[in-house]
Amino acid sequence: MEFMGGNSQLLSKLAASDQHGENSPYFDGWKAYENDPFHPTANPNGVIQMGLAENQLSFDLIKEWIKKNPLASICTSEGVKAFKDIAIFQDYHGLQEFRNAVAKFMGKVRGGRVTFDPDRIVMAGGATGANELIMFCLADPGDAFLVPSPYYPAFDRDLSWRTRVKLLPVACESSNNFKITIQALKEAYENARKANIKVKGIIIANPSNPLGTTMDRETLRSLVTFINEKEIHLVCDEIYAATIFCAPKFVSVSEVVEEVKCNRDLIHIVYSLSKDMGLPGFRVGIVYSYNDKVVNCGRKMSSFGLVSSQTQHLLASMLADEEFVDTFLAESSKRLGNRHKIFTRGLEEVGIKCLDSNAGLYCWMDLRPLLNEPTFEGEMALWRVIINDVRLNVSPGSSFHCVEPGWFRVCFANMDDETLGISLQRIRLLVGKWKEMGAQVKNNGRKKTLKLNFSSRIYDAAVLSPHMMSPHSPIPHSPIVRART
Ligand SMILES: Cc1ncc(COP(=O)(O)O)c(C=O)c1O
Repeated sequence: MEFMGGNSQLLSKLAASDQHGENSPYFDGWKAYENDPFHPTANPNGVIQMGLAENQLSFDLIKEWIKKNPLASICTSEGVKAFKDIAIFQDYHGLQEFRNAVAKFMGKVRGGRVTFDPDRIVMAGGATGANELIMFCLADPGDAFLVPSPYYPAFDRDLSWRTRVKLLPVACESSNNFKITIQALKEAYENARKANIKVKGIIIANPSNPLGTTMDRETLRSLVTFINEKEIHLVCDEIYAATIFCAPKFVSVSEVVEEVKCNRDLIHIVYSLSKDMGLPGFRVGIVYSYNDKVVNCGRKMSSFGLVSSQTQHLLASMLADEEFVDTFLAESSKRLGNRHKIFTRGLEEVGIKCLDSNAGLYCWMDLRPLLNEPTFEGEMALWRVIINDVRLNVSPGSSFHCVEPGWFRVCFANMDDETLGISLQRIRLLVGKWKEMGAQVKNNGRKKTLKLNFSSRIYDAAVLSPHMMSPHSPIPHSPIVRART
C-alpha cells in the first residue's frame, strides 16, 4: 500500500493535496543535487548546488566568537551553570535578553537609522514560520495577498498551503528591471475585486529574492500610500537586509513609516537570521508588527514554532556584543561583494549578463540568448541541459513565477572559491558549446537543440518523484520513504 497518494482517504485533504508548491523545478533541482552531490575529489562530476541561498562566507567569524565566549553556551564547563534555567524555561514571549539583542541587531542592520521595540518582537521558526504566522493573523482562507513576481518559490507553501490564503502575482518585467509599478498593483487589485476576491494585503521581499535588488525609497513610499488608501496590509520580508554589498543602500519599511503619514497597524516586518548571519539551521524567525493586536495574537500562535531557548541564550550574548556585530556585518558584506564581483565578471567574460544587483546571495542570470525558443518549454529544455549535462543546480525563472522565459537564479555564497571556479568553468563550456552550435547552424542552416555531453551520467528520473528533498521537507529522511527510494 502506498504511504501517500494510493489511498488518500487515510490522510487529511490538506496533507493529500499537492498545494505545498514543492512540485516545482526549484525543489527538483535540490533533489538532483542530493542524488549526486559534487565533491572535489570524491565526486568531481557531481552536481554543484547553486540553487540554495545560503550565506556560508563568514562562518569563521562566528566560530571564533563562540570559542572566545564559552560562557554564552550552556554546553561548556564555563556556561553549564545556566543549563537548568535555560532547559526548563520556554515562554512564548522569548527571553527578554534575546528580544533586546535582536531588536538592537535589527536596528544596526538598518544602519542605525531606526530603532525597534523588543516588546514587538514575536518569534517563529525561521522566516518560513514567520511568514505563515503573519498570514494566519491577517487573512482568512480564500482571501488574497498581492505579491510582485518573480518571487521566492516557497512563498506558495509558506503563505498559502496551510492558511488557504491566495497569492496573486503582480507581474514585473525586465523592461524596467523588474520594478513594481503602482499601475500594475492597481490593476491586480481591481482584477481581484472584479473576481470577488478579497485582497487583504501586499507582501514583498525587500531585498528581493530572486532579483538581488532593493526597493527604492520612492517606490516603498508609494506602496505604503497605496495600502493606506485601500486599508490593506503591507508585509515586508526583510530577510536579506544585511546582504547589501554595494550602493544603493537598503531602505527598510521601518524608515518609511517614520516619514509617511500612515496607519501603522497595517505594517508588518518579517525577519530571520538565516541569511544575514548565515544561520538557517537555528530557525530564528521574527515577526515585527506595529499592530498591537497582531503582536498579541502572533505570540499565541508562535507557541507552534518557538526558537529553542538554548539558541536564544547563545544569540542573546552574541548579538549584544556590539563590537562583534559591527565587525561581522562589515566583513560579511565585503565578502559577499567580492564573491558577487568574481562571479558576475566570470559570467561577463563569456557574454552572460545578470540583472544589476546590490544585495542577496544570488544573481538573476539572463540566459535568454541561449534558449532554443523564447518559451517556458525552451527554458525547461535549457534547465535540463544545465542540470543533467553541465551539472549545476540553478533555478529556472518559471519557478519564481517570472513572466519572461530565460531568466535563472544562481546562488554564489554557499560554496568555497574553488567550487565557484569550477562552476564558472562549466558555464564557460556550456556557452562554448552553444557558440559552436551557432556556427554550425550558420553553415548548414539547420536549427539544433543544445545538448552537451560533459559526463556520462544522466538525470535521474527519481528527481521528478513526488518525494522531493528540500531543507524544509522532512519526507526523504523518513525511514519508510528511504526504504522505497
Ligand atoms: C524571501 C525569503 N523569505 C523566507 C525564507 C525562509 O527563510 P528561513 O530559513 O528563515 O525560514 C527565504 C529563504 O530562502 C527567503 O528567501
